[in-house]
Amino acid sequence: MPHDPDPPPAKKFKPGSPFSRLDKKPGMLLPRKGNAAIPIDAQRKQLPIYQAKSQLISQLRQLHNAVLIGETGSGKTTQIPQYLYEAGIGRQGLIAVTQPRRVAAISLAGRVAQEKNSTLGKLVGYTVRFEDVTSSETKIKFMTDGMLLREAIGDPLLLRYTVVILDEAHERTIHTDVLFGVAKSAQRKRREQNKIPLKILVMSATMDVDLFSQYFNKSPVLYLEGRQHPIQVYYTKQPQSDYLQAALVSIFQIHQEAPLSHDILVFMTGQEEIEALARTCRDIAKHLPDTCGPMTVIPLYASLPPAQQLRVFQPAPKGSRKVILSTNIAETSITISGIKFVIDTGMVKAKRYNPDSGLEVLAVQRVSKAQAWQRAGRAGREDSGSCYRLYTEEEFDNLVNMTVPEIQRCNLAGVILQLLALGVPDVLNFDFMSKPSPESMRMAVEQLDLLGAVERKDDQVSLTPLGKKMACFPLEPRFAKTILISPEFSCSEEVLTIVSLLSVDSVLYNPPARRDEVLAVRKKFISSEGDHMTLLSIYRAFKKVSGNKEWCRENFVNSRNMGLVAEVRAQLRDICIKLGLKLESSQSELVNVRRCLAHGMFTNAAELQPDGSYMALDTHQPVSIHPSSVLFQAKPAYVVFNELLHTSRCYMRDLCLVDADWLHDAAPEYFRRKLRTVKS
Ligand code: CDP
Ligand code: MG
Repeated sequence: MPHDPDPPPAKKFKPGSPFSRLDKKPGMLLPRKGNAAIPIDAQRKQLPIYQAKSQLISQLRQLHNAVLIGETGSGKTTQIPQYLYEAGIGRQGLIAVTQPRRVAAISLAGRVAQEKNSTLGKLVGYTVRFEDVTSSETKIKFMTDGMLLREAIGDPLLLRYTVVILDEAHERTIHTDVLFGVAKSAQRKRREQNKIPLKILVMSATMDVDLFSQYFNKSPVLYLEGRQHPIQVYYTKQPQSDYLQAALVSIFQIHQEAPLSHDILVFMTGQEEIEALARTCRDIAKHLPDTCGPMTVIPLYASLPPAQQLRVFQPAPKGSRKVILSTNIAETSITISGIKFVIDTGMVKAKRYNPDSGLEVLAVQRVSKAQAWQRAGRAGREDSGSCYRLYTEEEFDNLVNMTVPEIQRCNLAGVILQLLALGVPDVLNFDFMSKPSPESMRMAVEQLDLLGAVERKDDQVSLTPLGKKMACFPLEPRFAKTILISPEFSCSEEVLTIVSLLSVDSVLYNPPARRDEVLAVRKKFISSEGDHMTLLSIYRAFKKVSGNKEWCRENFVNSRNMGLVAEVRAQLRDICIKLGLKLESSQSELVNVRRCLAHGMFTNAAELQPDGSYMALDTHQPVSIHPSSVLFQAKPAYVVFNELLHTSRCYMRDLCLVDADWLHDAAPEYFRRKLRTVKS
């Protein structure tokens, strides 16, 4: 079974430009096969999984745990829940299917509802953060792993569910990993208490089966035959110093030489570079001779509004080539038809955590070999295809085999808070599939202690009343804390707005080609007190015009993302009301808002040094102000920041000007240790 296929033969690019000219193979000229005209029932029967249906059902009926492996597109995610439901397995409760990404949960639920010929939200529904499309009729529920984890706080035995399908398990997101432990423990306790059993099914296209099987009580591994067409893999001859330039050259080389019906999928790292490359491609395509044909460039990244993400599934206008520029979101979660070429930059943006320094950074880094094969696989879904790796074969050989699970490379404060809220007795010894280092566990507990969320007695850690309230918010601990203390500063309305703005990806458009225009219209919003205050004034202006689309266009504001901010805000506000918080607005007294941010985010503070550089106070690491910040040209003495982004150096993103005194008031003990110069 091809879960661990022999790598396809690889060829080197020929000399000349960094990329060889394409080999014209007869297979490439075959017309592309589409699904659009085939009735949906027939489509279901054509999936590779259909062959195994009755065998799968009888196996799954028997088993409490199973690991299911089958290639992307074989039909695991859409069919297995339906097979179980149709066979009456787990009818006493719901079937949950978890996904690491919201877009996957939403689009899969839509697809399965359509296959069941039912309205989304009835038999088939989904729940993602800040959005619940289910009803009392729902039996098959797609959800993000984070959402199921949240539900477990109120229902640690997951009693509403009879089957939990942990999908895309290989991604090993922090939520999936915690969920493994939570589901396993729920299953054991239900058995002990003679409750309805819980079936746990772990699914993926590529994973370390032994590790998973071992962890889930030596569960059997079911292999599924998939369809995969041959893929020709190419490497560059020389290492590329600029992968974006290399991607651009490759796109246009293919565009000039391959039939227009052959679509291209390019793997990149993030929204900004994707949007920038999309603009460049459109510009260049416009100026090419007519013989090249038109190009439809479609960006794809997690923060795009779902409706826009769904554009990647639509065929390009007739006679036009579709070029999709995507983050690793298209690596496994999403199947896009028509892809004949994959261009793999070999890069991904991911979190990295250094427990020695306590620093969590988002950094652009090399993919693992498993990821590179997964990416290449996207070219062979429907027909033979090609994958252009923008790195040398030697560079490929040096990649790590598997991506390190997120739980071993990020700040664990949020996880520990959740585990404590779940009532896990001995958090420091939780049954993780891959244990995080004791050092990073210790750091996380320390951070929660600083935030006032936990108490420590001997070796036991427990939640304080504040910590219990913090766990009610689907937010990072420090944001939850900032909201919870906002009544003390009479500025809850503003803080809710700011936290909501930071929970959604950028609400601002920054087209580089219109940079001067952008700067001119932004001027009226810019606050010398930083990005939080600037965002707040943009949100207020947006509200004043009731979200007018024209206003958004003129001010380079992403109206959909702003709409999402308003939704997030309403939900956070509901939680505040349930907790009985007094919600006031500070009106124009914004100094209180900054004071509140300083009190909530003091662990992310930086201080200006005599030489003009900045130092993060918590870790004493050198940091810089990100060029996108409104404070980029300024030299404030003290700031708190939202996150660190590591590219050529370590940048602070989203900054707020604060006073040293406020930081000191927020955590006197801590800052006595950390502050180089304490003002009296
Ligand atoms: O989970 P796995 O990768 O094995 O496959 P799946 O997500 O169940 O998808 C099986 C097939 O359903 C895909 O190859 C698509 O043809 C179709 N599908 C779709 O058309 N739209 C979706 N949103 C999801 C799947
Ligand atoms: Mg799937």
